[in-house]
Amino acid sequence: MNAPDRLHHLAQYAPPHRLLHTAHVPGHAAYQALVAESQEDYAGYWGRLARAFVQWKKPFTRTLDSDNAPFYKWFEDGVLNVSWNCLDRQVEEGLGDKTAILFEADGGTVTRISYSQLLAMTCRMANAMKALGVRKGDRVVIYMSMSIEGVAAMQACARIGAIHSVVFGGFSAHALRDRIADTGAVLVVTADEQVRGGKTLPLKALVDEALAHGGCDSVRNVMVYRRTGGGIAWHARDRWMHEATAEQPAVCEPEWVGAEHPLFLLYTSGSTGKPKGVQHSSGGYLVQVAATMKWTFDMHPEDVFWCTADIGWITGHSYIAYGPLAIGATQVVFEGVPTFPDAGRFWKMIERHKVTVFYTAPTAIRSLIKAAETHPEVHPDRFDLRSLRILGSVGEPINPAAWEWYHEYVGGGRCPIVDTWWQTETGAQMITPLPGVTTLVPGSCTLPFPGITAAIVDETGEDVPNGQSGLLVIKKPWPSMIRTIWGDDARYVSSYYPPELRGYYLAGDGAARDRDTGNFTIGGRIDDVLNVSGHRMGTMEIESALVACTELVAEAAVVGRPDDTSGEAICAFVVLKGPRPTGEAAEKLAVRLRNWVGKEIGPIAKPRDIRFADNLPKTRSGKIMRRLLRSVAKGEAITQDVSTLENPAILSQLNEAH
Ligand code: PRX
Repeated sequence: MNAPDRLHHLAQYAPPHRLLHTAHVPGHAAYQALVAESQEDYAGYWGRLARAFVQWKKPFTRTLDSDNAPFYKWFEDGVLNVSWNCLDRQVEEGLGDKTAILFEADGGTVTRISYSQLLAMTCRMANAMKALGVRKGDRVVIYMSMSIEGVAAMQACARIGAIHSVVFGGFSAHALRDRIADTGAVLVVTADEQVRGGKTLPLKALVDEALAHGGCDSVRNVMVYRRTGGGIAWHARDRWMHEATAEQPAVCEPEWVGAEHPLFLLYTSGSTGKPKGVQHSSGGYLVQVAATMKWTFDMHPEDVFWCTADIGWITGHSYIAYGPLAIGATQVVFEGVPTFPDAGRFWKMIERHKVTVFYTAPTAIRSLIKAAETHPEVHPDRFDLRSLRILGSVGEPINPAAWEWYHEYVGGGRCPIVDTWWQTETGAQMITPLPGVTTLVPGSCTLPFPGITAAIVDETGEDVPNGQSGLLVIKKPWPSMIRTIWGDDARYVSSYYPPELRGYYLAGDGAARDRDTGNFTIGGRIDDVLNVSGHRMGTMEIESALVACTELVAEAAVVGRPDDTSGEAICAFVVLKGPRPTGEAAEKLAVRLRNWVGKEIGPIAKPRDIRFADNLPKTRSGKIMRRLLRSVAKGEAITQDVSTLENPAILSQLNEAH
């Protein structure tokens, strides 16, 4: 039951024979033809896809405008509505009765909603938002658990041209407040409570707390979805969703917007303390999301798609709220967690709903491998997973052993795994296998999606030869790319288009290409961003949260260390204002600080290790030597040059301080 005992680095998997003929991109020659088309006429290629995947109210006449690079514009004079493309269009094309979403609640109850019903729900919600005065260009913060209503709220914003910003339900009131304040939202959509793993957790109470803190004066109303009926405080600004939508008509004329009209903002961590509001467009975003949805997952009308992400992350935007609907697919939406009521939940749901295409994160796979090793009853081989055709992975590098297990036990050895590399900023998949084309190598995201100009360069932007590692860049703009950082154009340019890189987009990942195949392998972030269980966390963000505990903390430094399950674990080195605690006192303080970080950012940011020290290792100019701390966190011998260290005695203390 352990990972199959193969020579991982030699394993290669050719595409299933059948897919060479039936896939949307059938075979290597078809892939090569698309790549050649995009190389010969870049704008022409994307223009063709834009017409094939999206219906335009008014067609665009210019595909790409690079006049004000890196503020690129795609399909700018084209007019469309994203929600119309995801809902009305499907109904018009005869899919009105097709199931759009199969929702499975935490406790197992299943609700099905057809395309016509989802359209009606979205229109009612859009009308209710309009009745509350929400207009085109206004921001709406959505702080909801996984639900049909959450997807409909996103679609409703798109319908009226409001810009949504979904905040993951695991973020704290403080983090929510920062995001509401930065967007200047006029409306917050939330639920009374959320249910996860058999427990209810507050949502509305955290919205109240966020709004009580000030800085959120732009918020006029809070719309509340009744999920549990649990007791909540009520203010004059609050409206029940069911009441606000009940009197509204089930028809709402879409707001037709220009292709560059912002569809949403999504906050993500960068290398400084303040999260960045990544701004996405309507037209370009939808084009690439729809195209990748169809080609990467080789989606056909009878497929049942399931992406296990949360709508609070980019994966949940592109491959739950928009992608599947944009191509008229049936998808499963899941409220709960993979380990409740037991670690067989995913497999049971695949069996129950006859899921054909399954998209999840390596962290989930690794934790389910562990569970299956000790509890054979939750091993995927106990379930009927024969409906599966294609598997996907996203969010972090997948280690070959987990890949092999996923392939063997979940995919029954017959399902291609698409290991998709992309980011919040890229909006859609960028480097990925295609099921009918790619020979898979475990641990590699293989080759760029046709039309994506991914490359590996050095610090001067010079290409590095295959076999050598370097910086992952995208040489040309692409339709679903980030347009700017909300309210901070300068930060957009400095973060992603540093002058020494010749106008290439800097992804922030280190990577290398295979000498023979040219396949890409992602090494991980090159900046101060950690990937913890597929969640992006900025080390500075956690440091700021720790030092915000002013009564206790004088200084803090946060680094990552490798972890078998979560990919990386957060390690904090803390200097207290008082004396350095040891033993039980240290443990107590660590618990207190962990909870503090949970309050400041959210439980996902709680440091795994907290070590107390009298000081941090610094250079004579006062810079914290993070590389050194990384070695200490890993428990490695210090091999770095420590001659510039101002306080070398601190090293032995750090090593002891467990
Ligand atoms: O480091 C890469 C890693 O996740 C980062 C992007 O995180 P985020 O914006 O939260 O989006 C995650 C979901 C798209 C990247 O810079 N990453 C994402 N996918 C992969 C990956 N690393 C390796 N392989 C992947 N397939």
